[in-house]
Amino acid sequence: MGAAHRGHQPNSDPEHWRSSAGVRSPETQALCRGISVALGGADTAFSMDGDVLQKTFVTNVVGPAYVSQAFVDRVEKSEKKTIVNISSTVGSIASDFGAAPASYGISKTALNMLTYKQAKEKPDITVISMCPGWLQTDMGGQNAMHPVSVGVAGVLKTISSLKSGDSGKFFNFQGENVPW
Ligand SMILES: NC(=O)c1ccc[n+]([C@@H]2O[C@H](COP(=O)([O-])OP(=O)(O)OC[C@H]3O[C@@H](n4cnc5c(N)ncnc54)[C@H](OP(=O)(O)O)[C@@H]3O)[C@@H](O)[C@H]2O)c1
Repeated sequence: MGAAHRGHQPNSDPEHWRSSAGVRSPETQALCRGISVALGGADTAFSMDGDVLQKTFVTNVVGPAYVSQAFVDRVEKSEKKTIVNISSTVGSIASDFGAAPASYGISKTALNMLTYKQAKEKPDITVISMCPGWLQTDMGGQNAMHPVSVGVAGVLKTISSLKSGDSGKFFNFQGENVPW
């Protein structure tokens, strides 16, 4: 799994995301869908480029953190009061995915910790991590296991049946708990 980055510069300026709250720019919409990148492709711990790791981390962890900060007031006033961080089972240490991809996996493990921290800080809202499955997107590739429609349907079904006790947990698109 891992498409090359296609030219975005990860934006780590909190003011950029704060000013995006309420503005449905294409970039904001992309982030609301749960953007992410596997910049390093199939890199490994002993071969990865620090710059790639840093950029992957900014996009996959700093981006979602700032988007959540920008939107949390609105989430707290909403009916569902839910934040879904789109993660990957590649970030699950217990799932034992092996050596690669390192920078992507490290960023998703960190995103899962962000989910945990957000859930602990705001018990009034439900925050989860979700893996959408291996899907036929640019990143997942044409040989991925499922079409996008299967992952999207599974994510939406799981989100719609969430209970408050589910906050701080990690689910896959089949609604099953993913071990950390
Ligand atoms: N596909 C899978 O098999 C799979 C499996 C597990 C988890 N996931 C997760 O699901 C989410 C969606 O992945 P996907 O498969 O849809 O990926 P994708 O096909 O590669 O799409 C990623 C999207 O993010 C945008 N993007 C990338 N870096 C950006 C940046 N720094 N700033 C703004 N936008 C940026 C891209 O914009 P451009 O199109 O303009 O480049 C694109 O719209 C990700 O969080 C991914 O980790 C996917």
